[in-house]
Amino acid sequence: MGFSLTVNGDRLSCAADPAIPLVDILREELHLTGAKPVCREGFCGACMVLVDGEPMPSCLLPAALADGRDIRTVEGLAPHGQLNRIQAALEAADAVQCGMCFPGMVVTLTHLLATRPDATRDDILMVLTGNVCRCTGYERIVEAALLALTTT
Ligand code: FES
Ligand code: FES
Repeated sequence: MGFSLTVNGDRLSCAADPAIPLVDILREELHLTGAKPVCREGFCGACMVLVDGEPMPSCLLPAALADGRDIRTVEGLAPHGQLNRIQAALEAADAVQCGMCFPGMVVTLTHLLATRPDATRDDILMVLTGNVCRCTGYERIVEAALLALTTT
């Protein structure tokens, strides 16, 4: 029994077990390795993708339940190979260390920029409670998000 996924605008047929978490289909079937399966419990945010425009941990979503929904991975957030606004700000703020958390951070913060252009420092800290970074202490990530919010 197959199912279909729409990932970064492409409609794809999938023959895998429909109960497999979306993160594994993305990585192993579609070779989109941005989302990282770190905790597999919905806690760390490293596997975050946009599902119908909302950030969601792809480790918690059985792939078949993503059928008919619009899936955007971090690979789909950088148009034409260019860094998007939050990616450029993270680079400018020298915010990246090991990088394991960053695909999820980019997904969460891209959504914040798109939906909350008036977001405050506290709002940024609140949304980042769903994205664990074990390296940076968050300060430069928050600086980058504030920078991106003031960059048009
Ligand atoms: S791997 Fe999905 S939230 Fe951690
Ligand atoms: S940069 Fe290493 S976990 Fe965030």
